[in-house]
Amino acid sequence: MFKIIKTANYDELSDQAFNIIKNIVTTKPDSVLGLATGSSPVGLYQRMVTDHQQNGTSYRAVKTVNLDEYLGLPQEHPESYYSFMQRNLFSKLDIPTDNIHLPEDGADQTEQCRRYDAILDGLNVDLQLLGIGSNGHIGFNEPGTSFGIKTHVVDLNESTLRDNARFFNSIDEVPKQAITMGIASIMQAKQILIIASGENKADAVAAMINGPQTVDVPASALQSHPNVTVIVDAAAAAKL
Ligand code: F6R
Repeated sequence: MFKIIKTANYDELSDQAFNIIKNIVTTKPDSVLGLATGSSPVGLYQRMVTDHQQNGTSYRAVKTVNLDEYLGLPQEHPESYYSFMQRNLFSKLDIPTDNIHLPEDGADQTEQCRRYDAILDGLNVDLQLLGIGSNGHIGFNEPGTSFGIKTHVVDLNESTLRDNARFFNSIDEVPKQAITMGIASIMQAKQILIIASGENKADAVAAMINGPQTVDVPASALQSHPNVTVIVDAAAAAKL
């Protein structure tokens, strides 16, 4: 079930998303937050940091689980999702390192997937934040992925490599594989908040909400979730 909030622009989208997160963290200081990387949450994370610095909102008891990580990039690479999260959020909050969880690259990738599933099984995610790929992916669950899957290794789609090339010197530098939380685990969250900005998301947003539920549009799995809030700016809402 979708609750749709349309905003005029990205700043308003970020304000609205921040209000939801702040409400959760203040009413339940030991919340478990599922977090995303990419461009979409940057404004939200800036607001969380400013609020922490100015109003003292504490993340000391919050736990986090991130959606995904590239394979083949060292953690310290500036475009690893570990580095992204440290830079944009974690290093600026009072959240203890032990409370932060991301999927990890490793020699035994099957073992890494099971390690992450065990972490997810031990936590009840209060809110899972998502962006949406222009191809309808959530996390790095690309079109064609079974809705029943848990943490797994993916070959990134050509369209995802193109979309993410903007973070690298060239498309050839974008890692070709990632490890991602599966759709089944995403669906376990009590509440989902999905944010989308810009005209290149308009088709995916419309397909997620109004299209048939199909593995071709991974975000359409969310049609079966009881509590999904979608915040879209005008450009991303253009085809609703
Ligand atoms: C990021 C993630 C991806 C992104 C999606 C949108 O952790 O799992 O699904 O949310 O690719 O990316 P942006 O926000 O950069 O457009």
